[in-house]
Amino acid sequence: MEYRVFSSADKLAVCCADIFTGILKSKKNCVLGLATGASPVKTYQELIRRYEAGRISFADVTTFNLDEYCDLPRNDKNSYYTFMHKNLFNHVDIKEENAHLMDGNAADAEKEAAAFDAMIEQAGGIDIQLLGVGRNGHIGFNEPADAFSDGSFKVKLNESTIEANSIYFDENPMPRYALTMGIGTIMKAKKIVLIATGEKKAQAIREAVKGKVTPRCPVSVLQDHPDALLLLDEAAASLL
Ligand code: F6R
Repeated sequence: MEYRVFSSADKLAVCCADIFTGILKSKKNCVLGLATGASPVKTYQELIRRYEAGRISFADVTTFNLDEYCDLPRNDKNSYYTFMHKNLFNHVDIKEENAHLMDGNAADAEKEAAAFDAMIEQAGGIDIQLLGVGRNGHIGFNEPADAFSDGSFKVKLNESTIEANSIYFDENPMPRYALTMGIGTIMKAKKIVLIATGEKKAQAIREAVKGKVTPRCPVSVLQDHPDALLLLDEAAASLL
């Protein structure tokens, strides 16, 4: 696992967009694994700028998102479906049918998650997976646990995640469950790029880089991936 440290979140986002641009240009019908949350927003903005400048196209691209809340209407302002449309999909030429998020309201969550993993396989696997990291080391919504998860599944969010994300929920209470790609699903991606900024991520990044691989700090599993890169700002890298 490699890491790079940047003096600003803007420079970090340009580097991340460069990596995505390389893949978009080298493989027209590439498969992208995408993340929500604050971490990828600047990268999406940079990708939108490059699309508007005619440098890249998403016309033949397929995407799979890491996770989606359960028990939240798809069009709720806090659903990850809404997030992705607002922050990326509505501004580029991706085909709606090629942009996949799990349905957090599916009657059979297990079936929904298994079908999602099967769809990723059918698409040829994920060429590049973008990740953020939780303060507790979660990736996707794989919370600290006794064992690494395999395929995608329904997860109970833990208190630290609920506290971190509650700031976005001013009307409805924050959901307690989500569907997430499993660690096994994430680790199958050919390339992984993780963004972490701010001092609140510093401890998780320290454990990811210097600690042992343990499901108690899920991001540490990236040590076992053959092509994982962490893009950090100075605050997130401050304990390295
Ligand atoms: C989002 C996701 C989460 C976030 C993490 C960091 O799709 O899977 O793992 O990446 O919670 O969130 P931010 O970027 O808001 O600090």
